[in-house]
Amino acid sequence: MRTIAITSADILDGVPGDLLAISDLHVGYRDNRAIVESLTPTHPDDWLIVAGDVGERVAHVEWALSTLASRFARVVWAPGNHELWTMTDDPDPLRGEARYLHLVDLCRRLGVVTPEDPYPVWSDGFRSLTVAPLLTLYDYTWRPDGTDDYESAMAAAVAAGVVCTDEMFLHADPFPSRQEWCVARVAETEKRLAALPGDARTVLVSHWPLVREPTRVLRYPEFALWCGTELTADWHLRFNAEVAVYGHLHIPRDIEVDGVPFREVSVGYPREWQPRGRVPGAVRVLEAAR
Ligand SMILES: [Fe+2]
Ligand SMILES: [Fe+2]
Repeated sequence: MRTIAITSADILDGVPGDLLAISDLHVGYRDNRAIVESLTPTHPDDWLIVAGDVGERVAHVEWALSTLASRFARVVWAPGNHELWTMTDDPDPLRGEARYLHLVDLCRRLGVVTPEDPYPVWSDGFRSLTVAPLLTLYDYTWRPDGTDDYESAMAAAVAAGVVCTDEMFLHADPFPSRQEWCVARVAETEKRLAALPGDARTVLVSHWPLVREPTRVLRYPEFALWCGTELTADWHLRFNAEVAVYGHLHIPRDIEVDGVPFREVSVGYPREWQPRGRVPGAVRVLEAAR
């Protein structure tokens, strides 16, 4: 009798890989590092989107993304606020844009796609989708009810005892403020998205949600100040999103805005996911898309 070795690639021959996504891995936590260690593709052509908050240190990002890049056919990364933090005891003291570009260089060495690279096109043989990782930040325009400018909004947040740690660690250098860095990023990103062919369908990937709707369920509504910008409110329509993928809120769920699925794919902190009784994993991003 002849024995033939059959690999998973043989079994799956002709079946397209999947487009998977995860965010907010926060690998500073040991229990979250175990999630990264357990993430494996089920098909050799699976892609993995990592939508920010991998960790606070460059070494965290390097470990997690190199682990994942060695397993998945393609890894696409969009930065979160935690990657952009400069902690006081960080061996990599780069701040603001220089820190971001240092992470971009690291990703390129690892073969991971960043917002600075040509947007890759994912295809299952029937449809082609441009996967666009974005860095858009926030500009304090998602203000609490009863406030109408930055000062009154921040005063309301301070009074409520809600101030994001970004205020201490996320520096905007060389921009004068986080708002101005956000406006510059939005303008630059908008230009790139507008240059795509008019009929291109997209998967928009950002750490901060592009629309405000997902923040309506925040326990502390003032926190929305650090979650996005009005400047991207119509991008899912203007740039033909098949689906928008985001993280940051640590409220993993699917919603629909103007008929477009928005999927939060965050893991969050162990104290958040452990009480749910199951270990979070990567999400098939096109499952809810039509
Ligand atoms: Fe996070
Ligand atoms: Fe975040």
